[in-house]
Amino acid sequence: MSRTVYINGAFVPEEEAQVSIFDRGFLFADAVYEVTAVLDGKLLEFDGHMARLARSLGELEMECPLTRGELLEVHRELVERNGVEQGGVYLQVTRGAADRDFVFPKNAPQTMVMFTQARPLTGEKKGLKVISTPDIRWGRRDIKTVQLLAASMSKMAAKKQGKDDAWLVEDGFVTEGSSNNTYIVKDNKLVTRHLSNSILPGITRAAVLKLVAELDMEIEERPFTVEEVKQADEAFMTAATSFVCPVVEMDGTAISDGVPGPIAKRLNEIYIEEARKSAI
Ligand code: PDD
Repeated sequence: MSRTVYINGAFVPEEEAQVSIFDRGFLFADAVYEVTAVLDGKLLEFDGHMARLARSLGELEMECPLTRGELLEVHRELVERNGVEQGGVYLQVTRGAADRDFVFPKNAPQTMVMFTQARPLTGEKKGLKVISTPDIRWGRRDIKTVQLLAASMSKMAAKKQGKDDAWLVEDGFVTEGSSNNTYIVKDNKLVTRHLSNSILPGITRAAVLKLVAELDMEIEERPFTVEEVKQADEAFMTAATSFVCPVVEMDGTAISDGVPGPIAKRLNEIYIEEARKSAI
């Protein structure tokens, strides 16, 4: 069945939504995006995602075509029209269509599209097997742009080896996963890379770190190596589309006893519980 999608003010069947071949999102990846999770038909961490959207746009000297209230209305309308109970809403804003030129166009009407993806988010999680691979992405990974080819290539490299995902490595340290933030647990201490231009400031990451602090568990925000991952008691990743997901293998080496660890499992449960409370 065809989804109803949103494009520049209109709700239309997905087959009818069209974007110009001159759109700078298409020609230059001159666009930013957000993915907001949907649970029980409600939006999780909506304000966090919209705040990061505003920041991404600001860093690229773009405006947000809609207000927070309008964004919320469109998100809710899409969730309702498509009957999504669990899944996500994808939103993308581009600088718009203009004749191809490296200079930013003046006054090009921006393109904004949104669509839903239904997928199960709750339930038992199998531990992921990951590989390490060089991080070949650009230097502003803190901006959530649609330049995702390097991430996609890293994921494919993992798939070709029969694994689930890739953790990206720069200067000997893990930056993040192909589309998630990464963590290890050692001696009851949580280690995750500090925020900088090298990684995306995950909305799930922020929420999980808050929960971890409340659990009285020590947090160390610093880069860690692939060797540390292999030696860890536990490893996991976070993203809006997977919450807290255990990682059980790195480059063929089992992490601890090679099964999902209790901390990742517990954090996932608490995260879902808390996110549900503030869902809108
Ligand atoms: N990806 N790091 C990268 C490179 C990401 O692409 C993502 C999210 C994250 C986690 O951020 P958050 O917790 O706010 O989802 C970290 C989304 C889900 C995607 O591209 O589908």
